[in-house]
Amino acid sequence: MEILKIEKLEKVYGTGENAVDALGGLDFSVDQGEFVAIIGQSGSGKSTLLNLIGGLDVPTNGKIVIRNRDISTLKKNELTIFRRRNIGFVFQNYSLMPMLTVYDNVALPVTFDSVKKIDHPYISSLLKDLGLWEKRKKYPGELSGGQQQRVAIARALANKPAIILADEPTGNLDTKTTLEVMGLLKESNKKFHQTIIMVTHNAAIAQTCDRLIRIEDGKIVERG
Ligand SMILES: Nc1ncnc2c1ncn2[C@@H]1O[C@H](COP(=O)(O)OP(=O)(O)O)[C@@H](O)[C@H]1O
Ligand SMILES: [Mg+2]
Repeated sequence: MEILKIEKLEKVYGTGENAVDALGGLDFSVDQGEFVAIIGQSGSGKSTLLNLIGGLDVPTNGKIVIRNRDISTLKKNELTIFRRRNIGFVFQNYSLMPMLTVYDNVALPVTFDSVKKIDHPYISSLLKDLGLWEKRKKYPGELSGGQQQRVAIARALANKPAIILADEPTGNLDTKTTLEVMGLLKESNKKFHQTIIMVTHNAAIAQTCDRLIRIEDGKIVERG
């Protein structure tokens, strides 16, 4: 089942002389449960693509359809709710809240949702699955990089989103921790039938995913 469809997606930053063509017309779709790697040089448009899919920025042209909803038709507050319910983000720099405990960081996306109740048993099971239960009362600053990224992954999963968008999630991690974090992403992909779209610099890691999309200068040049 198709969960994401991208058509003729274009993004231009700035105007006139300062205009930067970040994405020059991308077309692809992703099925539910697929683990897709996006690979390409720095500046090729990978983060732009993820930010557009996640509704953090708007395209200049083209269409993004997630679960049969064209996200450009959503009003700002509808998009916020849609994003919170359907998309989990994992960033290179973890982006955890320093003043919140591990547990509260993970529960945070659900806390923002006025309708959803926090599923404490689910959050607890996530923390246990990700080997973070013993750390639940610690603060991000008390954890290693790998542990912080595990917290970020748990947080991304907390809302049971249909799609996880991960922008170089292992970019700041050593080889051993990279393998560990990749293992966790693979596991949630299998266990929760989670769709994952992951940007990576690492070709070896990309090869282990279901599919590889290579971007150069804002265009798809390879579909593995
Ligand atoms: N907010 C922005 N304003 C202007 N140009 C940007 C902005 N974000 C990214 N760019 C430019 O768009 C291109 C693609 O950037 P990006 O998507 O961050 O690439 P990647 O993630 O592959 O390194 C680059 O030329 C970058 O300089
Ligand atoms: Mg980037």
